Amino acid sequence: MKKRIFSGMRPTGKLHLGHLVGALGNWVRLQDSYDCFYMVADWHAFMSEYEKPRGMAENSIEMVRDFVAAGIDPKKCVIFVQSQVPEHLELAMAFGCMTPLGWVERCPTYKEQLREIVGRDLTTYGFLGYPVLQAADIALYKASAVPVGVDQLPHLELTREIIRRFNGLYKKEVFPEPEPLLTKTAKLLGLDNRKMSKSYSNFIALSDSPEEIKKKVSQMITDPDRQKLADKGHPDICGVFSYFSTFGDDRIKSETRAWCEGAIIGCTECKKRLADILIDNLAPIRERRKKLSDAEIKDILTDGAKRAREVASKTMNEVKKLASFAA
Ligand code: TRP
Repeated sequence: MKKRIFSGMRPTGKLHLGHLVGALGNWVRLQDSYDCFYMVADWHAFMSEYEKPRGMAENSIEMVRDFVAAGIDPKKCVIFVQSQVPEHLELAMAFGCMTPLGWVERCPTYKEQLREIVGRDLTTYGFLGYPVLQAADIALYKASAVPVGVDQLPHLELTREIIRRFNGLYKKEVFPEPEPLLTKTAKLLGLDNRKMSKSYSNFIALSDSPEEIKKKVSQMITDPDRQKLADKGHPDICGVFSYFSTFGDDRIKSETRAWCEGAIIGCTECKKRLADILIDNLAPIRERRKKLSDAEIKDILTDGAKRAREVASKTMNEVKKLASFAA
């Protein structure tokens, strides 16, 4: 039997290269070796969008379209939307009852988000419980590993603590303690050298056309010391070069480095080469994306919710029994 993994992403609509490099690529690679559950975390999105929730359904569909276009096979993996499996909220309630306030108040991501996200009121009961719901997501499927980026490690640690508490209280190994499966690839910077993010508008979407990719790459920031063609460049501090490291093969990487350090080609030409590589890399995703209709995506999600609920309802029955509830 394959080991089970679980992961989720909040529905932000169309995904970008940062998602592909950071999480999605990993999800695709893992699907043959593990029994995979991949979830659209729409309740988690609602926690910060509740004031003006707009387009949650459309965003979920667009995101799943990118999942499938990027190579996640809905036959091998269970792809579903969190709000369509109500057991997530039930288990979150049970976990919430046994999670000490200090654990969630101390969570570093919680404190950071309160500090950094302005213009939204996140001082709510629901948002404090963000990691409790995440723990329920994972535990509901008894997943033994969770592919995530380092930013999610505090949530995973809390998940393990909550699970230990549950198992300890009821003296039964109901849930395994999940391990993180960290992505090894280096973080991809945005077009402006900040973190690639939807909110900074510095991203290349998986669905961008070749023209859009060319335009965006042409605006990227290169080595600031290289003003003229004759100036020798420093690839290690160049945002464009970091992309060659992620998307180019070894030959292209060493060639580009030599051309930059030797002032053989200029930044404009180098960017043209990068744009071509990205266009090639994304071509299969772009093509598959176009062919996936809304109806197909909805079918995938209907099937996914059904398969997820089969597992989730069994777990919830077990939990209710242990906690002495009526069946
Ligand atoms: N918190 C995760 C993020 O922002 C999304 C998420 C929700 C998740 N539930 C999960 C990730 C369970 C892994 C496992 O990216």
